[in-house]
Amino acid sequence: MQGSVNPFEIKSSLKRYPFSKKDLLQAWDSADELLLEHLSSLDLRDKSILILEDQFGALSCALECLNPVTYSDSYVSCRATALNSEGRILATSDLSKLTGLFDLVLMRIPRNMSYFEDLLCRLSHLLQPSSQVICTYMIKHQANLSFQLLEKLIGPTRTSLAKKKARLIFAQFQRSPTPSPFPLHISFPNFSIPFVNHSNLFSREGLDVGTRFLLEHIPSGNYKTILDLGCANGIIGIKAKQLNSATKIICTDDSSMAIQSAHTNYRNYFPDEGQFVWTNCYEDQEPESIDLVICNPPFHQGNTLSDRVALQMFANSKKVLVRGGTLRVIGNRHLQYPGILKRIFGNSQIVATNSKFVIVDACKSV
Ligand SMILES: C[S@@+](CC[C@H](N)C(=O)[O-])C[C@H]1O[C@@H](n2cnc3c(N)ncnc32)[C@H](O)[C@@H]1O
Repeated sequence: MQGSVNPFEIKSSLKRYPFSKKDLLQAWDSADELLLEHLSSLDLRDKSILILEDQFGALSCALECLNPVTYSDSYVSCRATALNSEGRILATSDLSKLTGLFDLVLMRIPRNMSYFEDLLCRLSHLLQPSSQVICTYMIKHQANLSFQLLEKLIGPTRTSLAKKKARLIFAQFQRSPTPSPFPLHISFPNFSIPFVNHSNLFSREGLDVGTRFLLEHIPSGNYKTILDLGCANGIIGIKAKQLNSATKIICTDDSSMAIQSAHTNYRNYFPDEGQFVWTNCYEDQEPESIDLVICNPPFHQGNTLSDRVALQMFANSKKVLVRGGTLRVIGNRHLQYPGILKRIFGNSQIVATNSKFVIVDACKSV
């Protein structure tokens, strides 16, 4: 390909979501570039193409002329793809909407191997013997398990040469359709009904130690509305409802699977509807509408360690809290949340600590 023009160029205006003048990070990486470079030597006319786990739309936008179907579990990814394509590419986050047979599947390998396994099982129903799966990844993020899963669920694999720390894996479909082991049904101490955990959930196979500590510090009080911000399977919101039976619970997450799990689990426990919002943090919601926000923020975005999401969660919380309302946050001690919250809210108070975690309240001034 050296010297020739790649028909599938990365769009130069591609941005990360949420768009911010301060965020100078590129919205694609050499794993995207390597895959597009490989595709430029193939005849893809009339192929039905599925793209999975495109981060900010680099692959979907470059291949737009081939009308690919795009799937992602992440609201941020789906929204970035829509904005970067000026609204022309609408990714789905609903695996049941993927039907028919695909000739070519292009996939960034996700960090979460349970999710990868689930996606490959679902894919095995959407492929025929001539179908090819091409996975792309940054070598430093690679888990050996991804090769084993591809070999087991799709077929024999081979790899490309590495380029700019990225590599491709090619797999030809030669296996049979396999049912997915997900969702899991997991029981937790002090919760009478098992939780339904989809594959792309935080701590999908057990209770995280931080969550366990936070569950011991859910307040009860005169709250009209409590927000479980970054809800995963909704266990924090469910505990909050058990302690505050008249309160309306809202659960929100970037992961569509988290929202599905939280909704199912909440319905299994309570007759009222609750509210389940698939969004980035809690952006663009009604100001001064929440009495208490409870949050165990993520400390990475994709494969990158970052406090960007936590900071937006805190800023969004301040906006939606009523005056006098409280944000309760848990974090690893080294994350410095007490200082960060003091900067944003003008106050913060430590509620509990143990050897690993600190739980902090910040109150929106009256
Ligand atoms: C540390 S987990 C906490 C999960 C659950 N609340 C608990 O305590 O077990 C953080 C959650 O934030 C979600 N998340 C990550 N980025 C997000 C974003 N931009 N907007 C909303 N939620 C996000 C993740 O999907 C994950 O469920």
